[in-house]
Amino acid sequence: MDSILVRGNGPLHGQIPIAGAKNACLTLMPATLLSDEPLTLINAPRLSDIRTMTQLLQSLGAEVTSLQDGQVLALSSHDIHNKTADYDIVRKMRASILVLGPLLARYGEAVVSLPGGCAIGARPVDLHLRALEAMGATLELRDGYVHASAPGGLRGGTVDFDFASVGATENALMAATLARGTTVIRNSAREPEIVDLARCLRAMGAQIDGEGSSEITVQGVDRLGGATHTVVTDRIELGTYMLAPAICGGEVELLGGRIELLEAFCEKLDAAGVSVSETERGLSVTRGNGDIRAVNVTTEPFPGFPTDLQAQMMALLCTASGTSVLEEKIFENRFMHAPELMRMGARIDVQGGTATVTGVPKLKGAPVMATDLRASVSLILAGLAAEGETKVARVYHLDRGYEHVVGKLSGVGADIERIKET
Ligand code: UD1
Repeated sequence: MDSILVRGNGPLHGQIPIAGAKNACLTLMPATLLSDEPLTLINAPRLSDIRTMTQLLQSLGAEVTSLQDGQVLALSSHDIHNKTADYDIVRKMRASILVLGPLLARYGEAVVSLPGGCAIGARPVDLHLRALEAMGATLELRDGYVHASAPGGLRGGTVDFDFASVGATENALMAATLARGTTVIRNSAREPEIVDLARCLRAMGAQIDGEGSSEITVQGVDRLGGATHTVVTDRIELGTYMLAPAICGGEVELLGGRIELLEAFCEKLDAAGVSVSETERGLSVTRGNGDIRAVNVTTEPFPGFPTDLQAQMMALLCTASGTSVLEEKIFENRFMHAPELMRMGARIDVQGGTATVTGVPKLKGAPVMATDLRASVSLILAGLAAEGETKVARVYHLDRGYEHVVGKLSGVGADIERIKET
């Protein structure tokens, strides 16, 4: 298993290009199942999660061709011969559940393995299932699989989420495009990736209103056509790399970045003493000469502070002057990076969903272990600012969500390399 070696070596300068959003691409790809005409996705990120979704779609009979070194995906679902998403693929990636809504909407049947828990929490799919039931689907749980059917097709209905789940909103939205009549999705998630999905579905011929707000209305249509769509910028990759100069000092321009994707996060950076400004090509981030100030952070659904940036923000706050309190409100077990950061000299006290971080003047390099995707990159960020060498093991987590992390960070002057291990 490969690891990443980082040595703290001072301020960073230069530019980092930001890729298309993993989480948008993972919901745009299954949208191909809604139509027999081609869907082309431009600005796709090159990640192992995208390869897993490719495998899943291919197992159903979809054609997925990767062009231009993986940055363009050509998808076609004119010949779907299998409507079962197998456990062996679904267990690798929870986003696999996103094939359920489209398969059911187009074919009136689907069998999808339950994803199971993951390291950051139980993560059930009850909201996905209830949304599809509200559109007339009959669901049965058997042998670890959801067997869904709607023989006469789905019909429009009212979906009222008691939590604004991102994935459940995406499944409901895709399914509603082909349901008979009008579907209203209340307390829908508002993430930019959902807005991006709605834009793509609209280009395919769907009738959707209200995406980006907490109520989406969909007027079902008989069929959807093809489209060419450019994937929105990855706001989590963007926020992660914004933290690199914040932690190490220097000035880095994030190409393709936009403040509107990360307003709550930018406000916290400002409060911590990091300046963010818009440039012609993206965002520029500078850390002033003073200390990083402690700030309190609570994760929330969009437009709140993203849970997917909590671990990376914690890495910054480990060396802030003063004490910061981080509250994790989305996932119940998302502080696994804390003990690893403590191996590097951080002072963190975790009690349930709250972590109290007391800044220390300097972190020290250490061997550490990546436990999940965002945790792994937080350890790299911490290593960039630590004294000495940090070796991050189990970097396969990182490959799920960050393309060319070594190239992007060494391009702005970081001392980082990947060690191939057999
Ligand atoms: C998506 C993102 C993930 C991000 C998360 C929250 C993708 C591929 N992944 O995950 O990176 O961290 O949004 O911003 O887009 N829940 C239920 N029942 C359900 C569905 C969710 O209880 O049916 C709970 C989950 O266990 C979790 C919370 O709701 O505690 C948030 O989950 P959700 O918004 O659905 O996240 P995902 O779509 O899984």
